Amino acid sequence: MRVLKTVEGLACWRRQTGASVGLVPTMGALHEGHLSLISRARRENDHVVVSIFVNPLQFGPDEDLDRYPRTLDEDMAQCDAAGVDLMFTPTVAALYGAGSDSAISTGAQTTVIPPPQMTNLLCGKSRPGHFEGVATVVTKLLNLIRPHRAYFGQKDAQQLAIIRRLVQDLNLPGRVVGCPIVRSQSGLALSSRNRYMNASELQQAAILYQALSAAKAKFKAGVRSRQSLMQTAIETLQTAPALKVEYLALVHPDTLDPLDSIETTGMLAIAAHLGATRLIDNILLRTRQPIIAIDGPAGAGKSTVARRIAHQLGLLYLDTGAMYRALTWFVLSQGVNPTDEVAVAELLPNCEIKLTSQGKDHDDPQPPEVWVNGASVTQAIRTPEVTAQVSTIAAQGAVREALVKQQQQYGVQGGIVADGRDIGTHVFPNAELKVFLTASVEERARRRQRDLVAQDLPMVELSELEQLIAERDRKDSTREISPLRKAEDALEIVTDDLSAEGVIEKICTLYEEIATSR
Ligand code: PAJ
Repeated sequence: MRVLKTVEGLACWRRQTGASVGLVPTMGALHEGHLSLISRARRENDHVVVSIFVNPLQFGPDEDLDRYPRTLDEDMAQCDAAGVDLMFTPTVAALYGAGSDSAISTGAQTTVIPPPQMTNLLCGKSRPGHFEGVATVVTKLLNLIRPHRAYFGQKDAQQLAIIRRLVQDLNLPGRVVGCPIVRSQSGLALSSRNRYMNASELQQAAILYQALSAAKAKFKAGVRSRQSLMQTAIETLQTAPALKVEYLALVHPDTLDPLDSIETTGMLAIAAHLGATRLIDNILLRTRQPIIAIDGPAGAGKSTVARRIAHQLGLLYLDTGAMYRALTWFVLSQGVNPTDEVAVAELLPNCEIKLTSQGKDHDDPQPPEVWVNGASVTQAIRTPEVTAQVSTIAAQGAVREALVKQQQQYGVQGGIVADGRDIGTHVFPNAELKVFLTASVEERARRRQRDLVAQDLPMVELSELEQLIAERDRKDSTREISPLRKAEDALEIVTDDLSAEGVIEKICTLYEEIATSR
């Protein structure tokens, strides 16, 4: 592991590092919460950078900048053990320039200002200037490191929402990846500031999560209004009189708009003081139907299984293949050369693809109806011209990014079954049911051979098919764009000795369980 302290060293390292880079920005005093971000970054990138910088720009004059815990040696050991490639630990002068102390205190430093409606509520109310400081330092880090992905915790939900907006609005490099809150056994969200508390305070601090959980239980029972959900949380909070609540609010987790009631998604957020420690926590409340995400190697039967499950459960089959076909059709219809990546990228904002279910009336699963800019192209996307170009289009980074965004739109309502190489890890990391459908190379070769025979195509030796499949697996798992990976929380189903019906039955039962227990 390398440790760099200067912008110069960092820039030089970055020029030498071509492969994918994941960034985890922190202020140090690392704990399991930070480590969960680091291990996710480790799984998803070739190189992992952790920055440790206690950013003076985001601390108010009466805040804990001076006493913020600094444990660099321990942090280094933890990063090293977690497989971090580079730690970036600049001084204030190294990151903000010489004389920066006075520049920061006099406001002579360029500052990034997020939309006021995202900063003038929740934590922003009592911490004026805080999110401007966060946005400024994160902009600097993203520009310096140009990561492929940057990891932030849901623990700081307002920060996460503001950073998502920042990256989108300023076209900053990297995709923002939000990671779930890591909690101690008592339910208390881990935080570097927890070390300010004594044993009795730590015990009382757990009430925060109990209050949020009580509201979630009400929500699950059908309660949607802000007033009732908050009342439930307040009743629990009142059992810990030492806890001084700063705010309790129901907002939309992306826009931070206050909500009177929850339509699809809400976030109940809280801040409270316990002695000298300020604590924050939040919980997501979603009404949407569950999402089933099926990943797995080529030839394991993902799309057949996904299509049939969608049919059986009355869900939409999110046919990602059809979406790539629809875009290919659009590119060709506009007279653009599919190999001209720039021209294709230029078309992306003008191509709105929609999939609609053909309903449960049919006995057999039907492919979804496909629409481009309001016109049906269900038949048009199946022509040999489209088939010949679709893999060229699908291999382009800008295309994948745009279509993943469109796919994620379907995730807002849920009630979909989606399959693909990276559906559970990248497109729908929050899917309720993730399945990694796989079969041995030998079995997939046998199935492929049977398909060839069934289609009257020339026979290929099993050994040759096995080699081709193994080679494709290797390529799929090492490719830079959306590599094949099993999500940690995915259920692996090896289909060698299972019939398609057996697999489908198993997944449908699990789905019904999840749908009813949420
Ligand atoms: P810091 O508080 O050190 O947190 C670094 C990252 O770890 C943040 O994205 C935070 O949300 C995440 N994190 C902290 N506790 C967590 C927990 N219990 N579970 C999951 N994630 C957790 O947040 C900052 O630093 C700074 O504002 C920073 C973004 C680095 C800018 O200075």
